Amino acid sequence: MVVVHNGIVENFLELKDELTSEGIVFNSDTDTETIVHLAENHKASGAGFEEAARRTFNQIEGANVVLLMSIEEPDKIIAARIGNAGGVVLGIGENENYLASDIPAILEHTRKVIFLESRQMAVVTRDGIRIETLDGQVVQPEIHTISFDAVSAEKGEYRHFMQKEIHEQVRALTDTLAGRIDFKEGRIRLPELKLTPELAKRIQRIYITACGTAAYAGMVGKYLIEKIARIPVEVVIGSEFRYSDPIVDENTVVLAISQSGETADTLAAMEEGRRKGGILWSIVNAIGSQAMRIADGYIAMQTGPEIGVASTKAFTAPLVDQYMLAILLANMRGAIDEKTRRELVADLRLVPDLAGRVMDTEAEIEKVAHTLKDIRGCLYLGRGINMPIAYEGALKLKEISYIHAEGYPAGEMKHGPIALIDEEMPVLCLAPKDPWHEKMISQIQQAKARGGTVIAVATEGDELVKGMADHVLWIPEAPWMLSPVVTVLPLQMLAYHIATIRGLDVDQPRNLAKSVTVE
Ligand code: F6R
Repeated sequence: MVVVHNGIVENFLELKDELTSEGIVFNSDTDTETIVHLAENHKASGAGFEEAARRTFNQIEGANVVLLMSIEEPDKIIAARIGNAGGVVLGIGENENYLASDIPAILEHTRKVIFLESRQMAVVTRDGIRIETLDGQVVQPEIHTISFDAVSAEKGEYRHFMQKEIHEQVRALTDTLAGRIDFKEGRIRLPELKLTPELAKRIQRIYITACGTAAYAGMVGKYLIEKIARIPVEVVIGSEFRYSDPIVDENTVVLAISQSGETADTLAAMEEGRRKGGILWSIVNAIGSQAMRIADGYIAMQTGPEIGVASTKAFTAPLVDQYMLAILLANMRGAIDEKTRRELVADLRLVPDLAGRVMDTEAEIEKVAHTLKDIRGCLYLGRGINMPIAYEGALKLKEISYIHAEGYPAGEMKHGPIALIDEEMPVLCLAPKDPWHEKMISQIQQAKARGGTVIAVATEGDELVKGMADHVLWIPEAPWMLSPVVTVLPLQMLAYHIATIRGLDVDQPRNLAKSVTVE
């Protein structure tokens, strides 16, 4: 038997004890080895390959994806998805079939795919794919046709996927708006969300749940939905949601944000929302992923596949998605008048161009990156709607450059962290022309007074910031509610260049995986 395994067999010690007591000798301490022995044991007791595989899958607990091959039937692969484990994509080709964990891996061979559901197994041969539940019921799978162009899964002219994906945001943001906005009437269309005026009116609370970068996108969403639609929003990170006994009822929305749609903690949060009878929504990039399938309604990010481990375009797209969602909710609930709605919708038109103008400043950002390449740490400060951008900017730097960085609400500095500032601790201040601009100016003054090097993200023409900061990363003037889409871009590029100057592998940073499909 040969096994491919992603996940953790939670009951492996128990299973191992049983196998060992039957005289089976283990060669390693891994949980994966248990799977092979289980399957071989079932075969030895007379089961055929498929039956042995099924019995094995039924014994495994936890979130796992398992593929099995047998030396006796080398033309067959049996795959199973157990629990809320990462994806299994089955690609249908001509006289050939494929198994992969994600779509980009097989795009160049086929666009016809089937997604394996939890507790299903697939028996795959050259000529066919048969899907059954782990209880043996045959399943008629839905075949999806993927529209991503294979070329978009390649690096093209860029050095790294991350750099390509940063630049792709201009296109991704255009696609995010395409077909969803009626600029003439000032209206938003998000049909997959299945939102009706009746539903919109009865919503009393929204929980946004997500992990990492996606959670920071959710924090911006909280500002937008509360400001525009006047619905209370709480952001709870995925790994905490189910342990916080959230107050969910039939008038509560649980909105999950996820690039992969397969993050175990985010899926577990959605399950908790379902268990408590809430309305389940998701904003997801990976078409057909679990977070998309189990939701009552969803918004598909229009970014195309994201390959770089550090998320970039799957951060800005949900910012715009949540802005559109906020307008839609506000309109259905009568929380905004027509004039405001039209103005908010009209502002969306500016987004792709604003993003494109930041891309044009990359050479300047690279120069600043050279001056910062040897820093040991950095504080990122922001306020209001740009406060989550401080968190996101710091996360980008730490995950790909391995420099410690901390995002902080600027107003909290005086309650402790200001003690960190000296000549060795640069401070990055998000100071665009938004309602918190003046507060950020005084923050820059305080950092300078303590000898810190200040890097500011500021709006073109802001002479005040220019006169105070050591380096300025310029952004074009943007409507403040959409400013996070713009302010984050120089921080992505800064992190990218600092990491590449340090000679690091930005697409595959150490210790990180693109989708965290286990707890
Ligand atoms: C950081 C990053 C991670 C992900 C997080 C959630 O750059 O990529 O923090 O944002 O693991 O992943 P998804 O969005 O796939 O649920």
